[in-house]
Amino acid sequence: MKYFIVTYGCQMNVHESEKIAGILEKLGYTQADTRETADIIVFNTCAIREGAEDRVFGNVGNLKKLKKNNKDLIIAVCGCMTQKEQTAQKLMNTFPFIDIVIGTFNLPKLGYYIEAVKKGRQLELFDEGEIDETLPYKRTSGDNAWVNIMQGCNNFCTYCIVPYVRGREKSRKEENILKEIKEIVAEGKYKKITLLGQNVNSYGKDLNPQITFAKLLRDICLIEGNFTLSFMTSHPKDLTDDVIQTIAEEDKIEKFIHLPAQSGNNRILKLMNRSYTREKYLDIIKKIREKMPNCRITSDFIVGFPTETEEEFNDTCDLVKQVGYDSIFAFKYSPREGTVASKMEDQIPEEVKGERVNKLLALEKKLQKENKK
Ligand code: 5AD
Ligand code: SF4
Repeated sequence: MKYFIVTYGCQMNVHESEKIAGILEKLGYTQADTRETADIIVFNTCAIREGAEDRVFGNVGNLKKLKKNNKDLIIAVCGCMTQKEQTAQKLMNTFPFIDIVIGTFNLPKLGYYIEAVKKGRQLELFDEGEIDETLPYKRTSGDNAWVNIMQGCNNFCTYCIVPYVRGREKSRKEENILKEIKEIVAEGKYKKITLLGQNVNSYGKDLNPQITFAKLLRDICLIEGNFTLSFMTSHPKDLTDDVIQTIAEEDKIEKFIHLPAQSGNNRILKLMNRSYTREKYLDIIKKIREKMPNCRITSDFIVGFPTETEEEFNDTCDLVKQVGYDSIFAFKYSPREGTVASKMEDQIPEEVKGERVNKLLALEKKLQKENKK
């Protein structure tokens, strides 16, 4: 019996697919080279922007033929898209050949749902539970090992679907993280360890007793072995002096910070509920550069947030110039149902968003060229 996994979205999803692979291998499946030769195909989906969802609809639709040729083929869809009830129902209704649709919190029970398929289609959502510590990962990212340290997000940035599909912040216990990393290091196959979380630097706030992200970093660095450590994604509001100092001091920590600014304009930042100002963000950048002149810094930006004027967009361009990032990701704002921003008046027309994203990316390219020179 063979499996094929199709992954969309961020590194968290890539890592979660390693768990799906672990679950399937435990059930006796092995990896298929192609969809055509698989007995089960799993789509691990992303809901962050409309484009990601459209791709899933297109690609799941393409499986109709495969299912026709092989009646026993199991098709499962999981991940952020399926945690939204309406989208999950739409998937089920549009594609009668899908066997399993499960939300993000039900993933550990994938094996149970595969067994249950014999009795009929499976649809299961909204079962927010504890972080699973029992199921194995099948690591697939070469000499890099992903380690999830927390899930969920409490920030409710007004454009973002994550808090709705991943729930509130839940940190793993430090002892479990350290144990996992010791095992990874002992295997001797991995040179790099990347800590993952929607908001890694608020790690530990929900634990009792609380522990800081900086302390976790220091404790990981005490593990003997030859590895480098990095992490993503950091929220500017939680990037404390203590964390910056720790990155600077610890040789094992890579001098790299992905620090999404999202906008360079204070009115838009406020509307986004980012809880920092442009000045505060620049202050953090200054602190990083003072302690680590060679630290690589990257960022995400959203253009065309509701009500954003041309001048406010220019503030974003200006911030990009001022910081001189190593690279940036720029996205057109995509309204996500259920979020505060999707209900705001004065949504920006698609053409304007397109123009702004192109302008920002062109600026980035120009800056990179100058940088290289
Ligand atoms: N529209 C566009 N981009 C978004 N992001 C998150 N939500 C949206 C949205 N609704 C971007 C942010 C985030 C990155 C992972 O995706 O820039 O940092
Ligand atoms: Fe979304 Fe904001 Fe949480 Fe990041 S910090 S996952 S952008 S709500």
